[in-house]
Amino acid sequence: MVKIYLVIFFVILVAAEEERSCPNFKTRNNWEAKDPTTVEYQTFPVPIVIIHHTASPNCSTFRECATRVKNIQHYHQVTKKYPDISYNFLVGGDGNVYEAVGWHKVGTHTVGYNNRSIAIAFIGNFNDELPVPEALQAAKDLIQCGVELGEIKKAYKLFGARQLVKTQSPGLTLNAEIQEWDNWNPRP
Ligand SMILES: *[C@@H]1O[C@H](CO)[C@@H](O)[C@H](O)[C@H]1NC(C)=O
Ligand SMILES: *[C@@H]1O[C@H](CO)[C@@H](O)[C@H](O)[C@H]1NC(C)=O
Repeated sequence: MVKIYLVIFFVILVAAEEERSCPNFKTRNNWEAKDPTTVEYQTFPVPIVIIHHTASPNCSTFRECATRVKNIQHYHQVTKKYPDISYNFLVGGDGNVYEAVGWHKVGTHTVGYNNRSIAIAFIGNFNDELPVPEALQAAKDLIQCGVELGEIKKAYKLFGARQLVKTQSPGLTLNAEIQEWDNWNPRP
């Protein structure tokens, strides 16, 4: 009997351990997303993770961040004529991860890399400052979570968008920060 309890205890422990890396998610329903005009799927696990910033105002509460995300989707769908908000996920200054196109879907974030990557965009402008520690942790947890879910390859390569295309994104300060993260690569 004791043995069985011990086994159950360890199974729960291992399950809790694995679950811990996934951050708090806000779904498309939570932030009241509009439907995409088209959806394109990609093969997963993907080999590349790309860090972006939105280069728009930051936020520190769910209400504020959800509004920012809605505004970004509007800009991308209406002004830029993209099928949906361009990124796979966004990270708010509230420490939440916002589902954009989400896992195994093709975004519109980094020309030439969209169909084999997950793009994570920090809400705000990070040329001169870093995201808050909760946001940085949420992004790291999201990547780890993606590896555990089988959405991102274990041996993924991490890049700042400016390494791949002509852009300032993810901002100079944040771009320096991610060079210290696991699996960052100096060249594509
Ligand atoms: C938002 O940006 C302002 C101005 O740069 C900064 O003072 C504040 O700490 C930022 N808030 C978050 C949550 O990043
Ligand atoms: C991604 O798209 C490019 C250009 O259309 C294509 O050549 C490539 O095979 C695609 N890669 C994958 C993994 O689908």
